[in-house]
Amino acid sequence: MSAPKVTVATLAALKRRGEKAVFVTAYDYATATFAERAGVDMLLIGDSAAMTMLGLPSTLGVGMEEMCVFVRAVCRAARRAFVVGDLPFLSYQPSDEEAIRNAGRFVALGCDAVKCEGGARVAARVRAMVDAGIAVMGHLGLTPQSLGQLGGYRVQGKSRAAVERLAEDALALRDAGAFAVLLEAVPAEAAAYVRERVDLLVYGIGAGPHVDGQLVISHDILGNFVGDIAPRFVRRYAQIGAEIERAFGDYAADVRAGRFPGPEHCYPIDPEQEAQIREARLRLAQTVEATR
Ligand code: KIV
Repeated sequence: MSAPKVTVATLAALKRRGEKAVFVTAYDYATATFAERAGVDMLLIGDSAAMTMLGLPSTLGVGMEEMCVFVRAVCRAARRAFVVGDLPFLSYQPSDEEAIRNAGRFVALGCDAVKCEGGARVAARVRAMVDAGIAVMGHLGLTPQSLGQLGGYRVQGKSRAAVERLAEDALALRDAGAFAVLLEAVPAEAAAYVRERVDLLVYGIGAGPHVDGQLVISHDILGNFVGDIAPRFVRRYAQIGAEIERAFGDYAADVRAGRFPGPEHCYPIDPEQEAQIREARLRLAQTVEATR
């Protein structure tokens, strides 16, 4: 029998028991399947797909159509894990109607919740989506969709005042009906303060240990991110990129040296038929030779 689906209630129960939720990004069927088999609790189809999957320089260039392809693939694999669809840049900012429509598309494709970036300034959008029956996770701290305003990938919440603003934003999200908030790139003490002040599920990526669960970008821990962003908070668990490169290199060498394919990779046929085909090839070669 398969394990029961993780829901918001399951996540709340984990928090009550002091157990950490395990949260990773996934953008494709294979990765989501492996994460499921490993018992990961939550999957984020992040707009980081822009960088990890599409090779773009930031998250700003990915849109709803591309995100829906990733969402479809991950939702097809996710049976137990709680799936969060990340609303891309300009899919929720312009109006409540666009927010509801786009969040609704993700839910219709199988997401359990959506995520959007910002605090008080997106509270109205969060309220609109929640009123439409959609579970919403907020995202505070380093919010890559506001990279221009933040001035780059910088740690946030580094002062008492900045942490207070984070907490106020988290409160605005809670009041708007969000069920959780994700804190990105903030000091551990800042995340602990927000979690203690605000009655919400608080997840972290680069936010230290005092949160209800840890998110990582799967490419960061698997070692297959192509690019030069290497956040301090990443621990590498595999070198998949190097392994892929080695495998392609070995394959190329085998093809060029005639070592692949071998007899074991060829389809056998009836020996009588094979002999006839060989004979036909010989005659063909003789005809070609005769016409030279
Ligand atoms: O898109 C994403 O993967 C994210 C995380 C970096 C928080 O939003």
